[in-house]
Amino acid sequence: MLNLGTMIVFLYAACLMTFSDASNIVESNYGFSVVDANSLEFVFNNAPEAAKWLKDNSELSLKEKYRSDRSTWVALYPVPFLFSGSLKFPAQTEEIRKHHQHFPQLVVQKTSSNNWNRRMHLQLSLGSLSEVWTTSLNITGPLSNWSFADNTLPAPQTVSGGPPSYICRLTGQSNENWSFWLEANSSEPLRIDVAVLDQFLVDSTKELKSLFPSWADMTVFTTFFSTYYL
Ligand SMILES: *[C@@H]1O[C@H](CO)[C@@H](O)[C@H](O)[C@H]1NC(C)=O
Ligand SMILES: *[C@@H]1O[C@H](CO)[C@@H](O)[C@H](O)[C@H]1NC(C)=O
Ligand SMILES: *[C@@H]1O[C@H](CO)[C@@H](O)[C@H](O)[C@H]1NC(C)=O
Ligand SMILES: *[C@@H]1O[C@H](CO)[C@@H](O)[C@H](O)[C@H]1NC(C)=O
Repeated sequence: MLNLGTMIVFLYAACLMTFSDASNIVESNYGFSVVDANSLEFVFNNAPEAAKWLKDNSELSLKEKYRSDRSTWVALYPVPFLFSGSLKFPAQTEEIRKHHQHFPQLVVQKTSSNNWNRRMHLQLSLGSLSEVWTTSLNITGPLSNWSFADNTLPAPQTVSGGPPSYICRLTGQSNENWSFWLEANSSEPLRIDVAVLDQFLVDSTKELKSLFPSWADMTVFTTFFSTYYL
């Protein structure tokens, strides 16, 4: 079938929340990425209503300051490797706070040491999130063993010249806590980015979604992102 005049752009939009502990939001953004030969600039030029909404009704010019780093999209891993660019715009946090009393939280239950090896037993709770689809961990630093995948570490990933890191995806019930351990073979801290993808959208995100043209095939979700040094 030949369908003239229709164009589909795969647009990923997210409300990205960054927080420092289970209740403290550091940053909140609307993020956009595209999997298409057409750029995000093209999408926004053809979605003037959405562009205006993001800028409180003033003119949007896509300057450098809206460019964002791919690592904030790790919840969608490995899809971000297909992204041709991403943008982020400041978002409000009150609405998210109204819906969630508790954000995801990683807690050390106990640590055992053997020579230079530290084994940390961790518990990840998903807080009060309701429609969790997936959780990704991005672990950077002296990781030497873990309780996942029959204690086998995969080959580390390197993104655009950054440090090697290990990515692990957890899928499952949001009313259960995940228990696992990570082992480090030096005293350097492990950096653990926890990114939880929730399909629940607050009303303002739904409104923003409705302002894009129908040829943009949108995947919209909320991401909760936090970083721990353990
Ligand atoms: C994982 O984290 C490291 C360190 O912050 C970062 O350089 C890298 O881009 C992240 N990887 C992915 C796939 O997001
Ligand atoms: C899950 O983790 C949270 C936060 O650490 C804790 O308050 C809760 O009691 C845990 N639930 C279970 C069933 O262990
Ligand atoms: C720590 O473990 C990693 C992964 O097994 C290994 O590549 C590295 O050589 C180890 N470092 C030390 C100091 O033992
Ligand atoms: C990883 O831990 C498991 C369970 O303790 C152990 O059997 C295995 O030998 C460890 N692997 C490495 C490479 O240290």
